[in-house]
Amino acid sequence: MARFLRELLKGVLSDRELSLVVASFDIIGDIAIVKLPDELLPKKHLIGRALIDELKQVRTVLRQVSGFSGEFRTRELEYLAGEKKFEVLYKERGCEFHVDLAATYFSPRLGHERSRIADLVEPGETVVNLFGGVGTFAMLIAKKQPNCRVYTIDLNPRAHQLAIENTFRNKVADRVVPVYGDSREIARKYLAGTADRVLMPLPDRAKEFVETAVTAIKQRGGIIHYYTLIRTVRGKDPLALAAKELSNRLKVPHHVEMAKVVTEAGPRVLEVVQDVRLLGR
Ligand SMILES: C[S@@+](CC[C@H](N)C(=O)[O-])C[C@H]1O[C@@H](n2cnc3c(N)ncnc32)[C@H](O)[C@@H]1O
Repeated sequence: MARFLRELLKGVLSDRELSLVVASFDIIGDIAIVKLPDELLPKKHLIGRALIDELKQVRTVLRQVSGFSGEFRTRELEYLAGEKKFEVLYKERGCEFHVDLAATYFSPRLGHERSRIADLVEPGETVVNLFGGVGTFAMLIAKKQPNCRVYTIDLNPRAHQLAIENTFRNKVADRVVPVYGDSREIARKYLAGTADRVLMPLPDRAKEFVETAVTAIKQRGGIIHYYTLIRTVRGKDPLALAAKELSNRLKVPHHVEMAKVVTEAGPRVLEVVQDVRLLGR
């Protein structure tokens, strides 16, 4: 990606400046989000304009000012060029999401993982996504599996509002239930013992919610998709480290059916998912 970006910016930047272009960029619908090193900030609008000219599908260029942070996992974005907007329609596997990139979490990089989960859901399942965002997992699951019910919970009012809109946009309102609030409270008060499957896509804090996931799962057992961040340590298997973190928290009998690295979340930090079957309680 960095090489592609350098190719695009030849003629706009000097050779020295081109050598500074290290970061990749995301394209979400018709918006491109670039990360730039400080040395290139004086050229940021020029770079934005060049990307609009070169990438025909791109109408807006934004700069990522900060990584995902805070309770809502949002990132600070700066407008650089093209149409001034932060909202976009994004298509993925037959679904369309209205996303507010400034006010909600969204990453196109998790598409494979969303598809993998959607393919696992069986007819008649009740799925609870403790951290639903704008409803990405929920839409994919409900489109793939018409005979299911998905509760998609989020604490961010804007994400919740868009999850409702996306539910109607994708014609899955008969089986997707967007819920606004803290998943701990929602699971305890309204969803205890209801889920065949619980999704926990909040990797930096999932360990704080293990009990919540267990609360939501049916008495006879079910599956938890546990996402976590693992700092790589030389000579240690990241999947073993992830399994240890989970078994320290999960005090009911369980079996890890699958574990894998989902993505590189930062320098020497991996996002790992474990599909964990609870063996009843
Ligand atoms: C990493 S994002 C994942 C969103 C979505 N699953 C996706 O992949 O696009 C985590 C989401 O959890 C929400 N969140 C954080 N803490 C929460 C809590 N205690 N209860 C419910 N949602 C929460 C954030 O607002 C954010 O939308």
